[in-house]
Amino acid sequence: PIAQARFPHVATANPTPAAQRDGLLADPGFGRVFTDHVATATWTAGEGWHDTAVRAAEPLTLHPAAAVLHYAQEIFEGLKAYRQPDGSVALFRPDLNAARFAHSARRLALPVLPAESFVEAVTALVRADEAWVPEPPASLYLRPFTVATEAFLGVRPAEEARFLVTASPAGPLFAGREAGVTLWISDTLSRAAPGGTGDAKCGGNYAAGLAAQALAKEHACDQVLFLDAREHRWLEESGTMNVLLVTADGELVTPPLGTILDGVTRRSVLELAAGHGLTAVERPISVEELRAGCADGSITEVFATGTAAVISPIVAFRSTAGDVVVGDGTPGERTLALHAELLDIQFGRVPDTRGWRL
Ligand code: COI
Repeated sequence: PIAQARFPHVATANPTPAAQRDGLLADPGFGRVFTDHVATATWTAGEGWHDTAVRAAEPLTLHPAAAVLHYAQEIFEGLKAYRQPDGSVALFRPDLNAARFAHSARRLALPVLPAESFVEAVTALVRADEAWVPEPPASLYLRPFTVATEAFLGVRPAEEARFLVTASPAGPLFAGREAGVTLWISDTLSRAAPGGTGDAKCGGNYAAGLAAQALAKEHACDQVLFLDAREHRWLEESGTMNVLLVTADGELVTPPLGTILDGVTRRSVLELAAGHGLTAVERPISVEELRAGCADGSITEVFATGTAAVISPIVAFRSTAGDVVVGDGTPGERTLALHAELLDIQFGRVPDTRGWRL
């Protein structure tokens, strides 16, 4: 069974020369540079998971009728490998990504990869591409995903699928936006509805968010803030990030799970809150509360979290109903402190008291 399967390393014929690789690592940007290998496994309805390996990263061959190309039967994850002070490499809470991946698989009617295999695939790939793990503050972004590969145009769960992990050395997603980002509050386009796929990490969610993101750009905003689909009133999440706010009376408040993604960074920050004198609260937040709180100072800071973005200070909101500035329009003290602590844990600069590094 897959739980015991290894991901044997199949030697790469033409690995990137070291000098070229180091040149790419010097300024990788986000999501543009890729390593020499992928981890992969194939699933068929009859046999389950098989053909597990780490092999050369090459273009995929898919039949034009592959289900993923038509019905978007696809899920993905995002996590990072961090270079530690002693030169070793650590992952951050990969068990949470494995669990969420299984949840997403069930929602998209894709085969569930056992958590052990997920972690094993990711670690096998990091081992093969260890030289691609950059120095801090950059890291190696890992993108596990499963796609329905069966060539069949009928609409039903595919009977063939492929799991892959691709790796991409990456600087922060919002490099140069440390001064904070501005969000466009979308009161027309929604991301998710109750019973939909909002809590699954599937490509379709992000495709459906692109038009709203474009609208945000038209209004000179960096990203969109989605509201609930029913009332266009309750905060959900930003295009690729969870949203949290700090109140003057010492709470760290964020919308509850349901139609939003169960972010690993979101969860970690909620768990770190107490150490920063904050009480973590998951409850609905209305757009009226956000506006009034920013205006009267009862909301002092807002930030967004995500694996790629880590923590992004949010310094203003714009919308058809007008603009609001958060605090004095610069990143808040708690936001910066949580960001620093998270990076210290991820990059191994402080003891791992919670067992978050692997
Ligand atoms: C992540 O933060 O890992 C994401 O998946 C966000 C994005 C780059 C799609």
